Amino acid sequence: MVAVFRQEDGSWHAIDDLCPHMGASLAEGHVEGTTVTCPWHAWRFCIVDGTWEDNPRVKTDCFEVKVEGDEVFVREIERE
Ligand code: FES
Repeated sequence: MVAVFRQEDGSWHAIDDLCPHMGASLAEGHVEGTTVTCPWHAWRFCIVDGTWEDNPRVKTDCFEVKVEGDEVFVREIERE
């Protein structure tokens, strides 16, 4: 499951949909700027790189997004 976000500037971002805390859907969270807030317990994640904003050493998976016409493609970004 992947949470895909389209921002007002036309940019697209995607991160793992499952919150690493207890599994809520981050796609259902509130987005402000580049931050999504988990709807269950308000952990906050960067939608650009998956960083947990309260503890930046922790990241959830993030994905590269490509849009072609009406189709949206996501590909996992390799971690070093
Ligand atoms: S399930 Fe996301 S913060 Fe608890």
